[in-house]
Amino acid sequence: MQCSYFDAGLCHSCTLMGVPYAEQLATKEATARTLLAAHDSAVWLPAVASAESGFRAKAKMVVGGSSAAPTLGILDGQGRGVDLRRCGIVAPGIRAAFDALAEAITASGLEPYDVPARRGELKNVIVTESADGELMVRFVVRSRASVAAVASIVSALQEALPQVAVVTANLLPEHKAVVEGAEEVVLTSRSTLPMRVGDVTLQVRPQSFVQTNTAIAGALYRQGRAWIDAVAPSTVWDLYCGVGGFALHAAAPGRRVLGIEVSPDAVESARTAAGALGMPDVAFEVGDATTAVRVAGAAPELLVVNPPRRGLGADLADWIERSRIPTVVYSSCNAASLARDLEGMPSYRVTQARLFDMFPQSTHSEVMVLLERAPAA
Ligand SMILES: C[S@@+](CC[C@H](N)C(=O)[O-])C[C@H]1O[C@@H](n2cnc3c(N)ncnc32)[C@H](O)[C@@H]1O
Repeated sequence: MQCSYFDAGLCHSCTLMGVPYAEQLATKEATARTLLAAHDSAVWLPAVASAESGFRAKAKMVVGGSSAAPTLGILDGQGRGVDLRRCGIVAPGIRAAFDALAEAITASGLEPYDVPARRGELKNVIVTESADGELMVRFVVRSRASVAAVASIVSALQEALPQVAVVTANLLPEHKAVVEGAEEVVLTSRSTLPMRVGDVTLQVRPQSFVQTNTAIAGALYRQGRAWIDAVAPSTVWDLYCGVGGFALHAAAPGRRVLGIEVSPDAVESARTAAGALGMPDVAFEVGDATTAVRVAGAAPELLVVNPPRRGLGADLADWIERSRIPTVVYSSCNAASLARDLEGMPSYRVTQARLFDMFPQSTHSEVMVLLERAPAA
């Protein structure tokens, strides 16, 4: 893939831009295999390739410039806005909305936040697109006083872009290098974006994690289900379940599934989805994964884990090691922390592994492994 922003030196976020895609995929799989070399008997299924461009269903754009002429993109080394509205890895439906979003920002009168001067109000715009083309648009602002200005542009925005289903103002008062804050004000009648992913419809609320590449996430959940169904467990736990992608795919007659997730918004999303799908045996609880398993007093027949980049950590890996759970499905966006966690679970062998290219043009990818416990000696 070619990118004029990259070629002009304006954006280097996609570190593999210009590298032929087949080479990217082969290098990522070679890296993952090297990191998991201790499990050399694993069968690697063919890597799942992504579309090279237009694959990002979620765009986090820093707002710079001025209210009259906002930039949507990143900040340069001096903290000035760089406009990346034509970014080629973003889904076409999101890209097509950027001009109308910039016009809405101008109409709101909100001044973009000037990082070096610590002045201004509008920090970021976060846009998520469903496979059906609907959009969730979140304006990240510095203070509560700006919520009314965001509210004032909602109807004009929905007139210009009827596919905008959810609009929110997210409050980020601190001068911090994070994308969003803890408080969200929903400004539309709808607060949830239905997203068809794999074989289920997720119900995504604003502050919920959602996989950035919908097609690859669907393939990931289907592979997870295939591994789970081959074992046919009667109980499954999905730790770090987010909005429930793995748990909802794991549902089957006679099987109880429990998802654990730290974000209340994500758990509410997952419960809504399970309700809409008519899955009474799929439940979700808010909690820290490590604490939840410790207090549960029992263990499932099969465990799914999909932690953030830092991995499970020593405590949870140790709990799994001692748990005697026969089968674990571990999906990781960081093969280095996956390998580290596996060192703390020496009773488990990787029997199957597969790379899912969630993040083309970058060195990142998702690796999912099927872990089976060696029979006790
Ligand atoms: C990589 S995402 C995976 C989400 C989900 N499995 C999916 O496919 O969308 C990791 C999730 O872990 C959650 N999380 C982070 N720390 C956690 C913790 N200590 N306990 C439980 N969940 C946590 C995050 O909120 C996020 O939803």
